[in-house]
Amino acid sequence: MGDSKFLIAGNWKMNKTIAEAKEFAAKFRGMMPDDGDGVAIVAPFTQLQALKEAFSGTKVMIGAQNVHYEASGAYTGEISVKMLKELGVDCCVIGHSERRQYFNETDEALNKKLRVLLDSGITPILCVGEPLEVREKNEQMGFVGGQLFEDLKGLDPLDVRKIVIAYEPIWAIGTGKTATPEQADDMCGFIHSIVAGYCGDEAAAGLKVLYGGSMKPGNAEQLLRQEGIHGGLIGGASLSPESFCDICDIAAKLNRE
Ligand code: 13P
Repeated sequence: MGDSKFLIAGNWKMNKTIAEAKEFAAKFRGMMPDDGDGVAIVAPFTQLQALKEAFSGTKVMIGAQNVHYEASGAYTGEISVKMLKELGVDCCVIGHSERRQYFNETDEALNKKLRVLLDSGITPILCVGEPLEVREKNEQMGFVGGQLFEDLKGLDPLDVRKIVIAYEPIWAIGTGKTATPEQADDMCGFIHSIVAGYCGDEAAAGLKVLYGGSMKPGNAEQLLRQEGIHGGLIGGASLSPESFCDICDIAAKLNRE
């Protein structure tokens, strides 16, 4: 996971060709702080090999955006953990709200995905977060707590602390509407307390809880300064090497403080 206390993960979603990914990598490699310590790029499957090569010899982690929980077989269109391992993939985002919403990624499937990822040594980045109507009723803690309860069900407590959890309120994704630092910190602290309840305070001490939702160079510092927030999952602002690097620079600066 690197030495930095922050993880800044860029989620490219369905963007960039291989050529564009290589172009990004060449620029970003030349400007990123601390040899890419505490930085991850989460890209479409087609770009993973090129990105692993482009960032070889650095600390940048390369991540996938999905995985199937079966080892192999008749699952047309799916990718297994073994296939990701072969590419040297370091981490994998699962449970993103876009996948929960558009591709019916259920908590039951996420629980299985967590198990196969943890068994393989690929770091899962599990996304949770509430829709606007839940936030408007002030029921977000129950909602996110429920997601975590289902997703983490029956996992070995010693494994749970290895999961990175990203809190992404759905109303803040791609909308330009960021959660306030207090809202984000409250939820990230709550997530931490749930995991601590699951595997004990000591085991949960190193847990990383990220915030995602319209994080940009202009608001990253305020968010990352919150005690409960240990990094960001960044969509739009991760697509340009300059803006992504600006956020990585902020994390690197705070890491040195
Ligand atoms: P934006 O940063 O574009 O709001 O996306 C957040 C996100 O969904 C990252 O996974």
